[in-house]
Amino acid sequence: MTKLINYAHRGASGYCPENTMAAFSKALELGATGIETDVQMTKDGRLVLIHDEKLTRTAGLDAYLASIDYSDLKKLDAGGWHSPEFAKETVPSLEELLELVKQTDTILNLELKNGLVQYQGLEQKVIETVREYNLSDRVIISSFNHYSLVECKRLAPEIKTGILYMEGLYEPWRYAQSIGANALHAPRYAVLPEWVAEASRNGIDYNPFTVNEPEEMKRLIGAGVAGIITDFPDRLNALL
Ligand code: G3P
Ligand code: CA
Repeated sequence: MTKLINYAHRGASGYCPENTMAAFSKALELGATGIETDVQMTKDGRLVLIHDEKLTRTAGLDAYLASIDYSDLKKLDAGGWHSPEFAKETVPSLEELLELVKQTDTILNLELKNGLVQYQGLEQKVIETVREYNLSDRVIISSFNHYSLVECKRLAPEIKTGILYMEGLYEPWRYAQSIGANALHAPRYAVLPEWVAEASRNGIDYNPFTVNEPEEMKRLIGAGVAGIITDFPDRLNALL
């Protein structure tokens, strides 16, 4: 049986400001074997790691990310909102994280955030960048935008994809197969052991999110999921 992947959600976001290099490094320190992060694009086409479409909450500027160039983005403090010790953190580029990941054997879950704001060519750029770093076999691309996942599979059949969804999808493994996806990134409450088994028989993994309570982690480990996405990789590590 393959080892369950412990994905740190936005890095070790239970301890550090989400989606910063500090959060990614902390995740590795705490035993994460995977990192989940959110990918978007600046006005001048640089791939960066941030959850919200607007910079307000985590970078203190009331503007859309898509309206700002990378050089200006890098002047913003992306950690101070969490606590003063992180005030030097900036919004990382995808390349910064790939450099870190390259030095380890970590799996990377890149969530393409292209819903509210549609980034032209996001899929192509992400794939090119992952290929440049020779990390195709360690990346899984997920998205709530399933058109994006189909496009990723078309451009890069060798890179895994995972379907993000909320609430209940009926027999989601069938849907996954129909769009060529490899995994279901399901809300934790929509994961039952018999579904995990059936998905697995059909070659589809479950990677539930966002699982922070040890009891729920235990339930999902018992159900046989392939990975768990958590803000607290140390809690999961203690159970594995
Ligand atoms: O990938 C799982 C989870 O990150 C999806 O939701 O809003 O935290 O990006 P969100
Ligand atoms: Ca995410």
